[in-house]
Amino acid sequence: MSSRIAGDPIVDVHTHMYPPSYVKIMEDRNEIPMVRRFPGSQDPRLILLPSEVESMKSDPEGKSKVPGRPLTKHYASLDQKIHFMDTHKIAISVISLANPWFDFLDPAEAGPIADSVNDEFSKMCTKYPGRLFFFAALPLCASAEMIRNSIDHALSLPYCRGFIMGTSGKGKGMDDPEMVPILQHIKENMVFLHPHYGLPNEVYGPRAEEYGHVLPLALGFPMETTICVARMYLSGVFDKCPSLRLLLAHSGGTLPFLAGRIESCIVHDGHLLKEGRLKNRRTIWDVLNQQIYLDAVIYSDVGLRAAVLAGGVDRVMFGTDHPFFPPLETDEQGEWESVTLNVTSVNYALPNQQQVKQVLGGNAVNILKLERIGKEIVAA
Ligand code: URA
Ligand code: ZN
Repeated sequence: MSSRIAGDPIVDVHTHMYPPSYVKIMEDRNEIPMVRRFPGSQDPRLILLPSEVESMKSDPEGKSKVPGRPLTKHYASLDQKIHFMDTHKIAISVISLANPWFDFLDPAEAGPIADSVNDEFSKMCTKYPGRLFFFAALPLCASAEMIRNSIDHALSLPYCRGFIMGTSGKGKGMDDPEMVPILQHIKENMVFLHPHYGLPNEVYGPRAEEYGHVLPLALGFPMETTICVARMYLSGVFDKCPSLRLLLAHSGGTLPFLAGRIESCIVHDGHLLKEGRLKNRRTIWDVLNQQIYLDAVIYSDVGLRAAVLAGGVDRVMFGTDHPFFPPLETDEQGEWESVTLNVTSVNYALPNQQQVKQVLGGNAVNILKLERIGKEIVAA
């Protein structure tokens, strides 16, 4: 076990796990998210997305096509996470529970389950001090008091560096006024905003099942994030929570590309003008540069350039989305193309090594204060 942080560490801020207790919850369910075994497929299947429900309806036994994705040991095994990190020279990972977190739980049980899963994450980090940190997940379906207690509990854990959250908030979205006190309670700790719900299935058309998971993952996820942040911005969440810091998955969805259009639609909106909401406002560009951070999980230098131009090079941080997107035709224990695509994009998009190092790791170390524990270890 190595715990030293080398000179220019690669840091992965977007990397998931489902601890064994969470897998057990999914195994006991008959609705998404669930884990099911199907005759003829070796690994159990992880069925997560609303878009996967359609194929389950027409083929419940998975005879023509097994639904979901294989639940390989990469999802729950810490040894696999470390092996993956070593294979890709990732020094530090900020691990987080994958979607859909605790959104689907009974509100009465969500608080204790969230605290115990966050404790599990904390224990995993303790096993590899300085190499692992985590974003805690919150029982957002529970009472405001339970959520506050879970925030306080997570922040008492030494390796916690913020919170991962879906776009649905307490059920009505992140522009729900009830989310404001929660976000205020989180203070300046990072909120990693991650999609899960996508877009309504109808937008993918009647032939959607022919296209695998491509449309919901490539387009539904990023649009979901973009719409969520635009709603937050329009409702004034960023002004009501000035200490809020938001890390957006998948380089902000399409936000860097659409920010100009959002601005133009705002300044040309008669309703907003009449309500006096065009005066004394911070633009979406201001918010991008003051309260938003973007990951670098975008798989091309074109998208990465947009992220860096929109957010600033010191606000973009490398990620992998492991254990999603494993290689299909090469050994899963070897290099993953989904990772090398993102590393290559960073190298290709940025003009010098200084900026490459910032995005691959330096920014995350500074922004998420990952050196605190790492330094003690290096000095020991
Ligand atoms: N699919 C998911 O459900 N979640 C991810 O993070 C990536 C792909
Ligand atoms: Zn992810």
